[in-house]
Amino acid sequence: MDLGIRGKLALVTASSGGMGMNIAHTLAAEGANIVLFARTEDKLQAVAKEIRERHGVEATAVAGSMAEKADIARLAGRLDALGGVDILILVSGRPPNPLRPTLDEDDLARWDQAYQSQLRNVIQVANGIAPQMLGKRWGRIIAITSASAKEPMAVHALSTVFRAGVTAYMKGLANEIGSSGITVNCVAPALIDTSHRTGSAAYTPEQAAKRKTLTPLGRMGTQEEICGVIAFLASQQAGFVTGSTIAVEGGMLGSLF
Ligand SMILES: NC(=O)c1ccc[n+]([C@@H]2O[C@H](COP(=O)([O-])OP(=O)(O)OC[C@H]3O[C@@H](n4cnc5c(N)ncnc54)[C@H](OP(=O)(O)O)[C@@H]3O)[C@@H](O)[C@H]2O)c1
Repeated sequence: MDLGIRGKLALVTASSGGMGMNIAHTLAAEGANIVLFARTEDKLQAVAKEIRERHGVEATAVAGSMAEKADIARLAGRLDALGGVDILILVSGRPPNPLRPTLDEDDLARWDQAYQSQLRNVIQVANGIAPQMLGKRWGRIIAITSASAKEPMAVHALSTVFRAGVTAYMKGLANEIGSSGITVNCVAPALIDTSHRTGSAAYTPEQAAKRKTLTPLGRMGTQEEICGVIAFLASQQAGFVTGSTIAVEGGMLGSLF
């Protein structure tokens, strides 16, 4: 299926590695030109080079932090010079880890850090970048949240609280800018394999083993499986899906919808 995004300009935040980088590759494989944004310039440049070589599209690396307004203003300028963004994929950094039981999360510095990385940064990028979509009368905004925002998971308070905030922000934005031809959705993952990560793990080994048993499929999801859903939401075909959250969690959630 041709997703109809060939030649569109896609910004993927937090894309120097992990899910953001994989999403960028997936959209590039569909012919979208890519702008990468994260803090580590050499990693970003390497990802941009690989995208150009593998997919034959334009890929631009802009180094900066989602936490810095000046960096986002600079990013907006680069996007504008490239013709303006069409597809905005809001990936963020992780909450502090390892996560703890809710009543053990009594360190306000961890709450502040989680607020910044999960919610404030996302709002700051959306507010700084999305206005340039309005004049184009077409756009796709997709925020990566967490299945925990739909059904709170144990030891996930630092994620749940702020991902729920992102979900609320995105729903409101969908209502406000839909008439400009822009859809706004969330993708809520859980149990997606992150064995690409080096350094600090998000879960203790015991937590990781237990998590595999939480889904009827009895396994972790792959990066391809989440990136495919995100690419669909970015497509022409998904034009009547807005204000929604699509959970990609192997059937772990108990709710009907
Ligand atoms: N895997 C799952 O099942 C699952 C479930 C729920 C939610 N998620 C969420 O999915 C997201 C991606 O996960 P991941 O495993 O790919 O994470 P990751 O491997 O830790 O990658 C995080 C990325 O965020 C960037 N980043 C961090 N802070 C930044 C900032 N201030 N400004 C710009 N970029 C920043 C990092 O690059 P630099 O260091 O170069 O800036 C890096 O590219 C996370 O928010 C995670 O919590 C995943």
